[in-house]
Amino acid sequence: SSATSTRDEKLLAICQLLNESVDYYNWVGFYFANHDTKTLHLGPYVGAETDHTAIPFGKGICGQVAESNANFVVPDVSAQDNYIACSFTVKSEIVVPLFVNGVNIGQIDIDSHVIDPFTEADERFLEFVNKEIAKLF
Ligand code: SME
Repeated sequence: SSATSTRDEKLLAICQLLNESVDYYNWVGFYFANHDTKTLHLGPYVGAETDHTAIPFGKGICGQVAESNANFVVPDVSAQDNYIACSFTVKSEIVVPLFVNGVNIGQIDIDSHVIDPFTEADERFLEFVNKEIAKLF
C-alpha cells in the first residue's frame, strides 16, 4: 500500500541520517520478523549490499535478537561463533530490537568498520530511535 511505501521511505531516510551522522555507523538497516515462518527479512538499509535478505530466527546476531528480545552489542565479530558475515570490512555490530505494542517485530542492525565502538549511549539512543519508529506501525 502507499502507507507502506511511505513508511519504508521514512525508514530509509533514518538509515541515511544515522549512517551520515555517526562515523562508526557504516551499515545501517532494518530486519523485520515473520513470526509464522520464524524468519527475519531485510528492510530498508544503507551500506554494502548483502546476500542475507532472509535470516532464520536463532541464526547470527540478528536471529538471536529475534528470540532474546534484547540488545546485542558485539565489540569484535571475530569472537562470535553464531555470526553471519556480510562483509570482511565489518569488525563490530549492534542490534536493537524494535517493539510495537510489546511485540518484537524486528530490529535495527548497525555494522561498524572499527572494533568496539558501541557504548551504552548507542544502546539508549537506538532504543529511543526505535520507540519513535514504533509510532509508524
Ligand atoms: N551480521 C548479521 C547479519 C546481517 S548483516 O550484518 C547485514 C548477523 O550476524 O546476524
